[in-house]
Amino acid sequence: MREKILDYLNKKHDYLSGDEISRNLGISRQGLWKHIQELKDSGYEIVAVPHLGYRLESSPDRLFPFEISRNLHTKFIGKKIHYFDYLASTMNLAMQLGMQGAGDGALVLAESQTKGRGRLGRSWFSPKYKGIYLSLILRPKLAPAVSPILTLLSAVSICEAVKNVAGLDAQIKWPNDVFIHNKKFAGILTEMNAEVDKVNFVVIGIGLNVNNDKKSLITQATSLKEQLGHPVSRLMLLQELLRRIENNYFLLEDKGSKVIIDKWRNFSSTLGRHVKVYCQDKHIEGCAVDIDHDGALLVRKASGIIQKISSGDVMHCR
Ligand code: BTN
Repeated sequence: MREKILDYLNKKHDYLSGDEISRNLGISRQGLWKHIQELKDSGYEIVAVPHLGYRLESSPDRLFPFEISRNLHTKFIGKKIHYFDYLASTMNLAMQLGMQGAGDGALVLAESQTKGRGRLGRSWFSPKYKGIYLSLILRPKLAPAVSPILTLLSAVSICEAVKNVAGLDAQIKWPNDVFIHNKKFAGILTEMNAEVDKVNFVVIGIGLNVNNDKKSLITQATSLKEQLGHPVSRLMLLQELLRRIENNYFLLEDKGSKVIIDKWRNFSSTLGRHVKVYCQDKHIEGCAVDIDHDGALLVRKASGIIQKISSGDVMHCR
């Protein structure tokens, strides 16, 4: 009902009579008043003037599930949203929910994380209401070996969403760091529950620096707000990201990984560069010539041999 009331109040930037709203929504005046109080408690500024009715003055900067669902228009991604003011890490809960049988496309979302995790044991700074911190549970019909394509798909989706909502050009450093002007603003952590030849579920964790102030970020990091000089609607960005992930997921199902790899190439800042890739206790140096159908990086070493690398940390040398 809260969605419907907000839809109503959003339609017209003027007073709407309580009679009209309650009649159209089929609820009593008292019922409407109760919902309006709840909305106010959640941070919506709604003024009520006798004989005129209600008017929505402003909405809080929160990623409430009912706001995300309004006008989302996805088929399965984000149909079920688990939303928290804070969590240790959205990954932990998503992995648990995955084990308990959570459906394909279920989303875990937190306004802040106390122990946000990054790749290779790093942490992910997750201040409240500044970024987007989510973990998405997917149940793809893919072999475990080709599942890393989902990480590339997510990186592509981030670039597309950021372009559409903020007008910014982002680039991907293999496999999953997303940069603007050589500074990282988004990261992806993928975890999987699989058997030898079958993926049970994959959890894609995405962290985005959206409205972080410059002074709160380390020098190698940025936020969309820092890049643009003004804040960005986290809600609109999240909705667009979920739509892009779903579109790309359907493309992957229909046409195979080539179409995702092609898109990824267009956003890549790694291909064609001289790179050092640190994996386990060694590093491989050479030219990043391409990525394989499963998302692995292909590096041509000085010897001319092409080495396939499935995971690692890339440093761009020149
Ligand atoms: C990286 O760049 O190393 C990956 C960072 C991934 C961070 C996100 S934030 C939401 C989800 N929950 C976590 O604890 N980590 C991921």
